[in-house]
Amino acid sequence: MVEMGEEIIVLDEVYKLFGPQPRGRAFDLARSGMGKNRLQAMTGHVLGLNNVSFSVKKGEIFVVMGLSGSGKSTAIRTVNKLFDITHGAVNVDGTDVQQLEGTSLQAFRRQYMGMVFQHFALFPHRKVIDNVSYGLKVQGVARQAREDAAMRSLALVGLDTYAQSFPSELSGGMQQRVGLARALASDPDILLMDEAFSALDPLIRRQMQDEMMEIQGELHKTILFITHDLNEALRIGDRVCIMKDGAVVQIGTPEEILTQPATGYVAEFVQDVDQGRVIQVHEVMQEPAPLSRDTPLKDALDRSAERSGAFVLDSNGAPTHLFTIEDGVRAASMGSTDLKSALRTDFERCAPTDCLNTVYAYAGRGLPIAVCDESGVLVGNLDPRHIMEEMGRVEHLIDQFEREVFM
Ligand SMILES: Nc1ncnc2c1ncn2[C@@H]1O[C@H](COP(=O)(O)OP(=O)(O)OP(=O)(O)O)[C@@H](O)[C@H]1O
Ligand SMILES: [Mg+2]
Repeated sequence: MVEMGEEIIVLDEVYKLFGPQPRGRAFDLARSGMGKNRLQAMTGHVLGLNNVSFSVKKGEIFVVMGLSGSGKSTAIRTVNKLFDITHGAVNVDGTDVQQLEGTSLQAFRRQYMGMVFQHFALFPHRKVIDNVSYGLKVQGVARQAREDAAMRSLALVGLDTYAQSFPSELSGGMQQRVGLARALASDPDILLMDEAFSALDPLIRRQMQDEMMEIQGELHKTILFITHDLNEALRIGDRVCIMKDGAVVQIGTPEEILTQPATGYVAEFVQDVDQGRVIQVHEVMQEPAPLSRDTPLKDALDRSAERSGAFVLDSNGAPTHLFTIEDGVRAASMGSTDLKSALRTDFERCAPTDCLNTVYAYAGRGLPIAVCDESGVLVGNLDPRHIMEEMGRVEHLIDQFEREVFM
């Protein structure tokens, strides 16, 4: 049994050369540091993976990102041994995958891995439920048990009512959800997803990303996710690995990639990304300092001096009113001593995991935003100035990198 956070997929100094003699002189040249383009020109061999090492921790979404041809699919295919490697090792939960053959390889794939690809590859003449349960059927699982499993995973992706439909009766996004349900049906520890959402239009794609993250919150699979889209990578990845010409350029959390791009190559990608999308509210919010309704106005003003406002809570800890310094000063200047005369109810709420750009519009009102957990309890105070500062800080960092890297 692996512990949460333990490394479950490990690639160690993996080389993959394509060509007639992958282990000959071409490999020696690659080993001694020759890059992909030169190697191809000199030897006619393609350097698919160039000394790739990374490890994926149990329960995380690890995203491999890079341009077309950078080696992403090659990397993911070493994990289930769709490809043999030229050199190095690929280890999954303690098993040296590359040593597996025949039935033990099949059993291993079945036990550990679900796969979702860009082209959903559903059987057109089979109903949705039969597509989803197909893998289980091949494994010899009895009809009732496999249909139950298929219905459970269809429910996870919100398509249980379409079990009896044919794929052609579903939209592209729905077909891709069937693909995901199929991968989930055998309850594998690991999901391998290669450009799983890339064929979908942007809106559907975002929905799929959200849905996948929701499912992940419930099931805690380990997900190795491939994409050529940095926005997608930063949005869904716990960590992101950026590849170029078969080699790893940088591995880091989305915030590390954004704020500390390792090379000009990464910085160039990062320029196009909307910063607010990856910084979450909880990274910026303050501890709440709630007031009670009968606090004298003067005390409320004193206690909130350092912040732009504070919330009044109900008996469950949910915010009911907002007090701002401005409203307080105005009420006091009109002779009031009562906090109630300076309270408003037209404030905004958000969740700690919301991204800053979703609350950006609220910030424009200049009022503090109540950060609440799922049951509505106040967990933080989001100062609109901090949202602006944070977005500005990252922009500034990016500017700096651009100057350093490109000038
Ligand atoms: N079966 C193969 N035979 C020969 N060369 C291959 C083979 N598969 C991949 N390559 C080469 O290996 C390199 C990496 O390809 P790979 O498919 O891993 O790229 P990718 O990052 O997945 O790109 P894309 O975003 O287009 O899917 C490319 O230069 C490609 O031409
Ligand atoms: Mg690919």
